[in-house]
Amino acid sequence: MKILATVLTCAIVSAIGAIGFICSRLYDVSALQPDNALVAWAVHTTSNRSISGRLGAITAPPGLEQPLAVQSGGHIFIRECAVCHGGPGLNATDIARGLNPSPPDLFFATRKPEAAENFRFIKYAVKMTAMPGFRPTQTEEQIWALRPSSAKRRA
Ligand code: HEC
Repeated sequence: MKILATVLTCAIVSAIGAIGFICSRLYDVSALQPDNALVAWAVHTTSNRSISGRLGAITAPPGLEQPLAVQSGGHIFIRECAVCHGGPGLNATDIARGLNPSPPDLFFATRKPEAAENFRFIKYAVKMTAMPGFRPTQTEEQIWALRPSSAKRRA
């Protein structure tokens, strides 16, 4: 009984503390302020684990290397993605430079997401970043075609 009362008291005190912090105006939401190490770790770990835990059922369809698919991906990339992600020979735009987290350069980044992960990022977006989700506006074929290699051949 004593343990239950202690746990309950701790939970209530933590909840009051959390609500107090939320209402306190202490946290600066400006995107130009870098996140402190703890917030950055919490957000990135949550995001990475969320995405990697949802890749199971996604498999790439055949034919992605067909010229029409490559061309379609390149067109969409230039129109919808390059403003943030840039591309070979393109300078970073003012929009890209003002974002936090920064949009990675999908062509030269050392980390290369697997095809399924790439697909998931593009289809479903990432909360609390500027990365938009394209499920409402692009077909699955168009999303699969959106790989950096497609745009590279067009650029
Ligand atoms: C308004 C800016 C913006 C636009 C437009 C945009 N993105 Fe992003 N994208 C981002 C940001 C910011 C991130 C980083 C998200 C993060 O840190 O989790 C990102 C992340 C990604 C990632 C994950 C890369 C990795 O290694 O983790 C992929 C893949 C991606 N975007 C592809 C695309 C494609 C393809 C398009 C166009 C169809 C697109 N993005 C359009 C801002 C944008």
